[in-house]
Amino acid sequence: MNYNIALLKGDGIGPEIVDSAVRVLEKIGEKYGHVFNFTPYLIGGIAIDSCGEPLPKATVEGCLASDSVLLGAVGGPKWDTLPGNQRPEKALLGIRSAMGLFTNLRPAKLYPALKGDCPLREDIVANGFDIMIVRELTGGIYFGERGMRQGKYGEEAYDTECYSRMEIERIAKVAYETAQKRNGKLTSIDKANVLESSRLWRKVVHELEASYPNVECVDMLVDNAAMQLVRNPAQFDVIVTSNMFGDILSDEASQITGSIGMLPSASLGDNTRGLYEPIHGSAPDIAGMNIANPIATILSGAMMLLYSFNLKEESEAIVNAVDKVLEAGFRTKDLAHGGEYLTTTEITDKIIENI
Ligand code: IPM
Ligand code: MN
Repeated sequence: MNYNIALLKGDGIGPEIVDSAVRVLEKIGEKYGHVFNFTPYLIGGIAIDSCGEPLPKATVEGCLASDSVLLGAVGGPKWDTLPGNQRPEKALLGIRSAMGLFTNLRPAKLYPALKGDCPLREDIVANGFDIMIVRELTGGIYFGERGMRQGKYGEEAYDTECYSRMEIERIAKVAYETAQKRNGKLTSIDKANVLESSRLWRKVVHELEASYPNVECVDMLVDNAAMQLVRNPAQFDVIVTSNMFGDILSDEASQITGSIGMLPSASLGDNTRGLYEPIHGSAPDIAGMNIANPIATILSGAMMLLYSFNLKEESEAIVNAVDKVLEAGFRTKDLAHGGEYLTTTEITDKIIENI
């Protein structure tokens, strides 16, 4: 088969890690007889520098015309002082919204080979953990009404959290279906003891429960969830939550895996076209040094094969190759604890050798 993939390399380490993922996908193409055509488009700071805006129209059009999108990372100190709506991060929200990507899948699992990197006590993670966070991605406070005004105490700024039944229903369906394919346990996280939007969230999530008899759905308040994630992460299977709670909890979940450089993500909408990116940022401090960990981006490529192209065997081939390289003891600098490490290109070579 032929697949057209838009590449949004972005800023910082983005270009290096996307190049690694491209090389891995090319190897998959060679081995399994697929052709992947890659077309680069500008996004983030580099787009601001060359076109004056973080998300040029050509980028949106290119992504919408592609079969799927692979993104590196955006942002850096150079653009940090720009006003909110001109910042590189704005491009991420823009592309998610333009592509209708209301689902964000963020897996966080403990790799046996990296157990020593987990900051939690050994007995807490004795049996590992494997969590899939289903984060709502195009609604809530990220996209609600915001502004500045004069209030009781003078100048004030506000952002609003608003969820419609439709938005809750469609993300809840994805979460139930995801739980069905895994261990059948869904935890819906909200702040229903305070927020009206959370109360509707909770109600709608439970209305769907009857349609998924093999899924057990429990509610958890977000403050408690933050605590439970470090107290007993193995209790979670699938988590479903709002845009902002999902943003925060997925960073926490990534940290307990001990290796933010390992975690991929998939953003999906109503069709098979998705956007795949590592959950880490652009790491401007190590950009261009060939020491970044490309594994999260490589695994994002594996998620693309699975979720957008339904290429299960090919996707597993990448995941297994990464496992083998880690089991063999190879590490990138972020995982080496001052010891020996492979460069970005070297670890990519090792992964390719194992496919
Ligand atoms: C993420 C990031 C983004 C988000 C920012 C950069 C807009 O933190 O993908 O988690 O909050 O969604
Ligand atoms: Mn985040």
